[in-house]
Amino acid sequence: MLALYDSGLGGLTVLAALRAAGVGADILYFADQAHVPYGDRSDADLAALLADNFAFLAGQRIEGVVMACNTSCAVAARHGWPEAPFAIFDLIENAASGVAAAGYARVAVIATAATVRSGAYAAAIRARAPETDVIEIAAPALVPLVEHGDSGSLEAENAVRAVVDTLPPVDAIVYGCTHYPLLDREFAAALPHRIDRFDPAVAQAAAVRAALVAGDLSPGSGKTRYLTNGDLAVFERNVRHFTGDHSVTATHAAVLSANA
Ligand code: DGL
Repeated sequence: MLALYDSGLGGLTVLAALRAAGVGADILYFADQAHVPYGDRSDADLAALLADNFAFLAGQRIEGVVMACNTSCAVAARHGWPEAPFAIFDLIENAASGVAAAGYARVAVIATAATVRSGAYAAAIRARAPETDVIEIAAPALVPLVEHGDSGSLEAENAVRAVVDTLPPVDAIVYGCTHYPLLDREFAAALPHRIDRFDPAVAQAAAVRAALVAGDLSPGSGKTRYLTNGDLAVFERNVRHFTGDHSVTATHAAVLSANA
């Protein structure tokens, strides 16, 4: 079994990419909604949350954690990963490999404030493609919109347009926060057609698929279990809204960090 870790609903974009890539492993989707949004928190807070949540996941008999939270990966890039008895699929590392392979001259990584502060995306992309020009832009207004299930609203359209209006000329935007592809329709409408929308979830899913093919992970039976430590009814409603699967149910997990 694999765990998929995010602060909230953004992990749904990674889950969709995993299933689209043919990853049939059983997945425990863990949303740390008691602490969302992560992007406005300090590094110390984020490192403490990561350590506490990894300790919780270590008790769930998982073989690996698929990181669906760029903000946590950005903090780990600066401060290191907590000790873990399972494999870690690092979203930023895999995203950077995908961006480098795409061969863009100039990209804008749109991410949370904490991810932008870390500079982890620019460093990871430049390590693989030194000639790529990387700009990082924080978009803190978007995560709360998604957490409220607010895609398709005028408010979402205006919030995305405000971010797009700050962009210099680029070949592609990189969704440096997993919540943002849930506003892909708004981004597509606001961006000129020539600008690509790069979703790191695809590269992350390819890395997990490769590990499965190599026999490093158990194949599983394609089951997904959803856990949140936030409001269960709101989570279920929004998972149904974004996945279109009205049969989804979730469980409440009493995972609260002692540190943050
Ligand atoms: N979805 C997460 C990310 O990719 C965190 C968003 C947040 O909680 O601020 O960074």
